[in-house]
Amino acid sequence: MTSHSQASNPGHVCIIMDGNGRWARKKLMPRNYGHRKGVEVTRRCVEFFATAGVDHLTLFAFSSENWNRPEDEVSNLMTLFMQSLQRYTDELHEQGLRIRFIGQREAFSRKLQQQIEQTEAITDANPGMTLNIAANYGGHWDIVNAARRLAQRVCDGVIGVDEIDEQQFSAGLSLDDAPNPDLFIRTGGERRISNFLLWQLAYTEFYFCDCLWPDFDAREMQLALDAYHQRQRRYGKTGEQIEVSG
Ligand code: IPE
Ligand code: IPE
Ligand code: MG
Repeated sequence: MTSHSQASNPGHVCIIMDGNGRWARKKLMPRNYGHRKGVEVTRRCVEFFATAGVDHLTLFAFSSENWNRPEDEVSNLMTLFMQSLQRYTDELHEQGLRIRFIGQREAFSRKLQQQIEQTEAITDANPGMTLNIAANYGGHWDIVNAARRLAQRVCDGVIGVDEIDEQQFSAGLSLDDAPNPDLFIRTGGERRISNFLLWQLAYTEFYFCDCLWPDFDAREMQLALDAYHQRQRRYGKTGEQIEVSG
């Protein structure tokens, strides 16, 4: 570790869990096999980051663009989503985790929405790591939604146009009660954000790896943390300034 690197683990980690389909196809299996395996890895990943002392873990589970996939894949993903919540809610609750969902949940079936509400309600008062699940989430949607909320407050006379600042704006965004992510991880080899948290990633450290999501094991997770520890976060300052202030 260098003198100016990050001594502590990130408080907020966000992950684009990509590569399930390719992992399955490599094994000559249907894409859904990769998604099922992906859920198991997700469970272990939650464990890993909770143990590492992370306060917030935000996982991209389904993007607003993923509706464009073949109908049977979308339907398999919805079934898997429901089954995973039924299977893991109690266990994660017992471990003291708080589970929250970000994204446009109205697009999901009534049953799935009820399960989402139930999972949130059961775990709401828990003191442990907050697990944010991004489902039918899009960064553009998030920003437009925040703009709409702000416009409504102006129309209602709660604030004036001159009072609009970054803080007022970001109060209407998803994850407004969490610090912005410190570390962004994307598995699966692509070097892009794919409409994940756009505003919130302004000063996040990016880590891309080629490992496909179902192969993302504890060793790979640790490599991501190790890479984070090597980064110097300058926020516009010079490296020398950061070294002096520690
Ligand atoms: C990520 O894996 C899971 C979801 C988007 C739901 P993919 O399904 O995108 O896997 P690849 O990228 O096709 O391999
Ligand atoms: C991003 O992965 C969304 C999730 C992991 C849920 P995609 O596989 O959908 O991203 P693109 O389309 O390759 O950018
Ligand atoms: Mg993909």
